[in-house]
Amino acid sequence: MLKIKSLIADKLLCGIKNISAECQITADELVGMLEYPPDSSMGDLALPCFKLSKTLRRSPVQIAQTLVPEMSADCIDSAQAVNGYLNIYISKDYLASAVIPEILDKKENYGAPDFGKGKTVVLDYSSPNVAKPFHIGHLGTTVIGHSLKKLHEFAGYKCVGINYLGDWGTQFGKLVLAYRMWGNKELIEKGGIDELVSLYVRINNAISGNEEQGIAPDPELAEKARAEFHKMEIGDEENLELWRWFVKISLEEYEKTYKQLDITFDSYKGESFYTDKMPAQVQILRDKELLKIDDGASIVDLEEYGMPPCLILKRDGSTLYPTRDIAAAVYRKAEYGFDKAIYVTSGQQILHFQQWFKVVDLMGYEWADQLVHVPYGTVSVNGAKLATRTGNVVLLKDLFAAAIEKVSEIMEEKNPALKGRYDIAEAVGVGAIVFYYLSNNRIKDINFNMEEALSFDGNTGPYVQYTYARACSILEKAGDIPAGDVTITTPEEKALAVTLSQFEEKVRVAIRDYEPSVITRYILDIATAFNRFYHECPINNADTPELRASRLKLTEAVKHVLGSAFGLICLRKTEKI
Ligand code: ARG
Repeated sequence: MLKIKSLIADKLLCGIKNISAECQITADELVGMLEYPPDSSMGDLALPCFKLSKTLRRSPVQIAQTLVPEMSADCIDSAQAVNGYLNIYISKDYLASAVIPEILDKKENYGAPDFGKGKTVVLDYSSPNVAKPFHIGHLGTTVIGHSLKKLHEFAGYKCVGINYLGDWGTQFGKLVLAYRMWGNKELIEKGGIDELVSLYVRINNAISGNEEQGIAPDPELAEKARAEFHKMEIGDEENLELWRWFVKISLEEYEKTYKQLDITFDSYKGESFYTDKMPAQVQILRDKELLKIDDGASIVDLEEYGMPPCLILKRDGSTLYPTRDIAAAVYRKAEYGFDKAIYVTSGQQILHFQQWFKVVDLMGYEWADQLVHVPYGTVSVNGAKLATRTGNVVLLKDLFAAAIEKVSEIMEEKNPALKGRYDIAEAVGVGAIVFYYLSNNRIKDINFNMEEALSFDGNTGPYVQYTYARACSILEKAGDIPAGDVTITTPEEKALAVTLSQFEEKVRVAIRDYEPSVITRYILDIATAFNRFYHECPINNADTPELRASRLKLTEAVKHVLGSAFGLICLRKTEKI
């Protein structure tokens, strides 16, 4: 559609110059003004002429009327002036002879912009804290992060996905201590991360006390835990060995979840990796006289920028979360030479990122403006019995398992003869969660409703995956598609072709706004248009062999575009359901 829009913009520009030769508007600006009307009876594209009336000193109605005769081009069928809008109808022949063949030719690469060629993006996402629960709060960073990676790759960027594991900090002192007091090697080897998490919960209860369970706080334990972590910091091999084991066990668990989502990372360099890289940055801060001592701690004062101070060193000289992030960014710039570094975390960390981005800027790193924080809203769960041993948090793996189980039950009823059911149930169950989550603008808070997410008839993952499977099965039944031209004869075919032509624009908006939900909603648009077409237009039983071939080609185009769009939001392609 971008091509169509720019062809139309050129025509509009001619018309506008006829009205006023001095008008400075550009074709690009006109492309940006073209809208998709809510209803195809108002055209396939429309120009709201009130936006031009000030510059052209004419009424919108006059402008629209003057532009109508300019609207002749291969891609335009007709145009009408209605209430100050110029409504433009795209030519069916153009869609049939230019758009659909382009999709069939480029297949999975159709719609890919190329503005990322030669550039590198580093994406920091998922990044769970080792030995703490990998819970539903991590769903956002994991799937938004991975979708942004896929989107950038699609636009030609070289992408580096980094899992910045929370693998360093006093929590490991606690865990070492807990393991020595209550741990059991075999139990942990068998129970994996769950055992670690329950040790962690137990030691926290013991340190802070738990009124409900009648446990009194024990500050001495906290001191002991700090001492164990300090031993790690100065290289105590015994503690480090335990720590490496805890990290390994946790990673094995995360990888199961990543596999279900089809997610891989290019780097697992976590917080611990930056331990020896922080002093150099602290020194730079000192040299540039950016550090201030405040109650014994070292801070960067950000009052001038309307923010609380950024904490760099604690009173005892130990480093903090922002210190590590600064060192990691410097390392990544040197290692990957990024053009953009994206960080996906919950909205609770907005201030943290604003602060250390500012510090990096004050340090004089000219790439400070290439750092991008992408925050998202909170997630809660409703209607699912997902209680865990850790109390009130919902683990991601339990959420997925519940979804897969539910989908298996539905499939058992719908299609008892289906082969490879578990894999399909996994793709659909996990896909349902991902799709539901990514249907909303990322910054919105979400309350998960399992029933709704798993339904096969709403605007859901199962619905769109089912639609994809439908397209596949039509094509499979058809066998080889005979050669011949595509013809568009019905409004449903036209609406479908118009929708498919919008793919590249959607990809561009999703990248511009760091918003995978643009793609999720677009997938729904395609599914809706395809299902209307399927219900109104016989495909394999079309009236003539030519019409049948043409409709099969449309179906194949749907399969390509849906398939690539699925890939952009971590949704697996399901050929059969
Ligand atoms: N591990 C952190 C957490 O779970 C997220 C890390 C985000 N990335 C970063 N570079 N700070 O809250």
